[in-house]
Amino acid sequence: MTLKNKHIVLGITGSIAAYKAASLARLLIKAGAEVQIVITPAGKEFITPVTLSALTGKPVVSEFFTANDGTWHSHVDLGQWADLMLIAPATASTLGKMANGVADNMLITTYMSMKAPVMVAPAMDLDMFAHPATVRNLEILRSYGNIIIEPASGELASHLIGKGRMEEPEKILSIVEDYFSEGQSLAKKKILITAGPTYEKIDPVRFIGNYSSGKMGFSLAEECARRGAEVILVAGPVSLKINHPNITRIDVESADEMYNASVKEFPAMDAAILCAAVADFRPSEQYSEKVKRGEDLFTISLVPNKDIAASLGKIKKANQRLIGFALETNDEETNALKKMVKKNLDYIVLNSLNDAGAGFKHDTNKVTILSKNGEKKDFALKSKKEVAADIVDYTL
Ligand code: C5P
Repeated sequence: MTLKNKHIVLGITGSIAAYKAASLARLLIKAGAEVQIVITPAGKEFITPVTLSALTGKPVVSEFFTANDGTWHSHVDLGQWADLMLIAPATASTLGKMANGVADNMLITTYMSMKAPVMVAPAMDLDMFAHPATVRNLEILRSYGNIIIEPASGELASHLIGKGRMEEPEKILSIVEDYFSEGQSLAKKKILITAGPTYEKIDPVRFIGNYSSGKMGFSLAEECARRGAEVILVAGPVSLKINHPNITRIDVESADEMYNASVKEFPAMDAAILCAAVADFRPSEQYSEKVKRGEDLFTISLVPNKDIAASLGKIKKANQRLIGFALETNDEETNALKKMVKKNLDYIVLNSLNDAGAGFKHDTNKVTILSKNGEKKDFALKSKKEVAADIVDYTL
């Protein structure tokens, strides 16, 4: 009984996928949850409240009042009662109302009164899902801290093929179970994460940089925030967006700026994960004007940057954890172990450029985690999101 005694408000909206909400309700109940269904008027066109209340053993809530006796249904009480609100399926219209606070039905007022976390499983046709309005609304919902259960790709009710199909009830159940089992395992923890490359200025238009995309560090920030941590994300120049109420983003450009931000924030942290690909050197001088083309050899001399990881390793207190990364091309493990000792890290996450799909730019990564106690764990090639969960599970 993975969901024993959990109170779940299941919101159902007017999508053909509403029929799957019946199986979902059944699965949640079988796992031990108490389920209260709130359905929109359009939702009732797709599935009858009688079916749903028979499954949950509770009358379905849809209107603000029960028509015949004037009983008022309190969205505020539901907001207090729930351990989770799960809106599945969520139509484009409901996403838009949630994002903009258009509280014209019981489901949206319940959503806006919700004290518990909210999960949303969108379901719609592929073009509606891809529309900029939907994309923007989902981004807004993420910024409210709502958890989006991405729809699957496949054949849709319209017979078109694409992304928009509500995730299967079994998969949604496992996401809900994972959520409660991992729970808020990092609640009240403060975690510093560095991510992305650094740019070291040569002149006003040129820099020395590297191929880091920031994807691994951003996935780590999202994973820690999802588990309840307060995250300070110090990001080098990347094109990624991140929106979560638990994440404070500090944008920097150079290694020196990243160093200053990290050293300032670290003392108040419980842990730091240093994922950034920090430039080891910077030009010894920066030209204030654009350097002109010429016939002569042009030389840039480089001076070493401060090592952020090693500096944090020096000021680290006994109750703080420090996790670094090592991207190696040869003698991977030996080099990673040396770095862990030299920088006084507790763990080092090794990725090798020799592994296909690992390292820079890819959406996947393959890592080995080494600990200062001599333990070693190899992980398979996975999405950076899954790798982030492994790193958090293993090191924090
Ligand atoms: O020595 P190397 O750059 O390979 O070490 C990698 C680890 O050290 C990473 O965790 C990286 O974020 C960190 N690092 C740092 N400051 C630097 C160089 C690397 O924090 N100047």
